Amino acid sequence: MDIGIGVIGCGTISSAYLRNLTRAPGARVVALADLDLQRAAAQAEAFDVPVAVAPDALIARDDVDLVVDLTVPAAHYGVNRCALEAGKMVYCEKPLAATGAEARDLLELATRVGRTLGGAPDTFLGAGLQTARKALDDALIGRPFGAVAHMVSNGPERWHHDPSFLFQPGAGPLLDMGPYYVTTMLSLFGPVASVTAEGGRTWHERTIAKGPRAGERFAVNVDTHVTLLLRFASGVLATLLTTFDVQASALPRFEVFGEHGTLSLPDPNTFAGPVRIRTSREGDWQEVVSVPGFVTNARGIGALDLVLAQRAGRAPRASGALAAHVLEVLEGGLTAMRTGQRVAIDSRPERPAPLTPAELEPLGWTPEVHA
Ligand SMILES: NC(=O)c1ccc[n+]([C@@H]2O[C@H](COP(=O)([O-])OP(=O)(O)OC[C@H]3O[C@@H](n4cnc5c(N)ncnc54)[C@H](O)[C@@H]3O)[C@@H](O)[C@H]2O)c1
Repeated sequence: MDIGIGVIGCGTISSAYLRNLTRAPGARVVALADLDLQRAAAQAEAFDVPVAVAPDALIARDDVDLVVDLTVPAAHYGVNRCALEAGKMVYCEKPLAATGAEARDLLELATRVGRTLGGAPDTFLGAGLQTARKALDDALIGRPFGAVAHMVSNGPERWHHDPSFLFQPGAGPLLDMGPYYVTTMLSLFGPVASVTAEGGRTWHERTIAKGPRAGERFAVNVDTHVTLLLRFASGVLATLLTTFDVQASALPRFEVFGEHGTLSLPDPNTFAGPVRIRTSREGDWQEVVSVPGFVTNARGIGALDLVLAQRAGRAPRASGALAAHVLEVLEGGLTAMRTGQRVAIDSRPERPAPLTPAELEPLGWTPEVHA
C-alpha cells in the first residue's frame, strides 16, 4: 500500500522535497499545510497535490502516515510533537528542534508512541558522500585521524526572501549549515565525544537583498562567524568553520586526513561528488570512482528510508537520534563559546549504515526515477 505523506511548511525548500516525494511511486503526497494557507494552496496546485489545509487539519487526517516538517526551526518542536502524538511518523528539516532538550523530548515521545522520527540532512546519503564513506571503509587512506571543513558564505540574506529566521537563536551558520558538516562527519567517523568553540559576529544588523522585502533591515541575534573543534569518540579530531561573514575565500571545502593519504570531499550540502584522493604512494590527486547513487538534489531520500525503516523495524539512517546528537554537538559549541570550556557530548548514536539505492526500490525510488 502507498505511504501517505503530508508536508507541513510550504516555503523555499518545499519545492525540492515535493519534486522528489511526488515522484516516488510507492508513496503519495496527500496533503500540504502551512500557516499561510495561500502558500500551501499554491504548492498544491504546482505539484498536483489534492489537499491544502491548516497544519492541525493535516495532522488529523487518516490518510497521512508520514509528516514531513519543512517549517522554520522555531516551529519544528511543536509541529513534530503534535504529529507524533497523533501517531504519525515524522521526518523534519534541520535542526530537529530549537534545543537539545526539546530534541531529547521528541526522541522519548517517538519511543513512547512507537513511531519513527527522523531528521535532515540526508545529503550524506547521496552518491558523493557515500563514495567518501566507502573510500574510508575500504581504508584507502588508512586510519583517519583528522578532518578540516569550511562552510564559508557571505550570508543567506543575499538570496532568501525572508532570511531573518536564519539569524536568530536556533539558526545562524552553526545551526543552519553545521548539520550538513557534522552529520557527514558522523557518517564517516561515528559520534562526537567533546567540543570546544569560539564565535563572534561582524554585523548586528543585515539587509534583505532580494524579493518583495529587499532593503528591509533585520537584527542579528546569533554569532555569524564560528569555529568548532570536535573530538570524536574514535579519536579523530576535526575543525569546522561556519560563517556568514566572509566575502571571498579559496579554502578547501572538506578534507579528511588518514595515515596513508587525504580525501577531498564535495560540499556536504549537495548529493554528488567528486571525491578526490591523494596518498603517499600517488604523485597527484585522483578522482575516486563514484558508487552508484543519487547525484541530483534528492532531498527526501532520508524520509523514504525512514518509511522503510519503520516497516522493517530497523533504525532509519537519517534518524532522530543522529539529528539529536548533531544538535547536542552544535549546542555544545554554543555553550563552549559562552563558557570558554570544553563540553562533553553524552549521546552515542549508531553510525548510520551505508545506503545502496536498491534499498529504496520498494518505494520505487531509484536514481533513474530521480534523475
Ligand atoms: N531554503 C533552503 O535552501 C533550505 C535548504 C535546506 C533546508 N532548509 C530548512 O528547511 C526549513 C524551512 O526553510 P525555508 O527556507 O523553506 O523557510 P521559508 O521561510 O521559506 O518557509 C517556511 C514555511 O513554514 C511556514 N511555517 C512556519 N511556521 C509554521 C507552523 N508552525 N506551521 C505551519 N507552517 C509554518 C511558513 O509560513 C513558511 O511558508 C528550515 O528548517 C531550513 O533550515 C532550507
